[in-house]
Amino acid sequence: MTLAELENAKAQSLREIAAATDAAAVEALRVKYIGRNGSIPALIKAMKDVPKEERPAFGKAVQAWRAEAEGALAAKSSEAKCSPKTVETDLTLPGRWWKLGVKHPLSRIIEETAEIFARLGFTVADGPELENRFNNFTALNTPEHHPSQDRTDTFWFGDDCLLRTQTSPVQIRTMMANKPPIRVICPGRTFRRDTTDATHSANFHQIEGLYVDTKSVSLADLKSVLAYFAREMMGDGVTVRFRPHFFPFTEPSVEVDFTCHVCKGKGCGVCKQSGWIEVAGAGMVDPRVFGHVGYDAEKVSGYAFGFGAERIAMIKYGIPDIRWLYENDVRFLNQLG
Ligand code: PHE
Repeated sequence: MTLAELENAKAQSLREIAAATDAAAVEALRVKYIGRNGSIPALIKAMKDVPKEERPAFGKAVQAWRAEAEGALAAKSSEAKCSPKTVETDLTLPGRWWKLGVKHPLSRIIEETAEIFARLGFTVADGPELENRFNNFTALNTPEHHPSQDRTDTFWFGDDCLLRTQTSPVQIRTMMANKPPIRVICPGRTFRRDTTDATHSANFHQIEGLYVDTKSVSLADLKSVLAYFAREMMGDGVTVRFRPHFFPFTEPSVEVDFTCHVCKGKGCGVCKQSGWIEVAGAGMVDPRVFGHVGYDAEKVSGYAFGFGAERIAMIKYGIPDIRWLYENDVRFLNQLG
């Protein structure tokens, strides 16, 4: 091989390397040019046949070829490793299915409740989970000797700081910050020192409602609003009944039952044959509460009610154990999706 032929062969090899597009092609060229039986080692072996005076120049040219070929191969092979593989796309394959998650049953109950009451002009009010004694008890006409204020019933942090036992303090905050008319629902997390069993949990969710106006508001207004809610939430034919009760912050106070949504009041296993299911506490706001928030009890009146979100979820979806709502077991949650 002459020096000119060598330069031609070198140029040819570098063109081939530059044209390689994948790792296999780069490897084939490595074998072809610098592998053990490649062209460059063959030239080195053949050096002894080159006339002595040409040998230094020839040797130099071979070494230069080898160095350039190695450099070009190395650059190509790292480029081939980094460049994305071209994958054949089969457009006839079915698409990949991404399963959407489902909303937690409690979130659904809270959102649905907010929607139903929004149709009646209620907005959603929010407040902190850590409350003071005034908002959670005093303003709600609950004296210090009341059992709910006891350390065995409530999570206290010092004398004036507690985990709210109800969402009623949000109603106090709302009244203190606004003038009537007020129409709010207050959904949120509440805390009581309950031992957790199938129907109790130390942490649960309430949805309370409050309507206060300067015109006279009556128990009949309360009943019609709750009857509307019962129908919208539980289905046609479900209505409400009031039973006398006592709450410090309402007078008169009632406990609210819905007709059983399963048997529509006839009596079945779900309602223990009574035809009714207890769902809420409610009543006309006690004048003393108005006094605490700076309203003139002679000029305003209103009603308040409070549901347990878990309770609504349990009766609506037929969930027998409250703990299922907190265990995050996807087998359970997916069933309600
Ligand atoms: N806050 C009461 C409770 O936790 C429920 C309730 C709200 C009752 C509003 C009457 C009026 O038991």
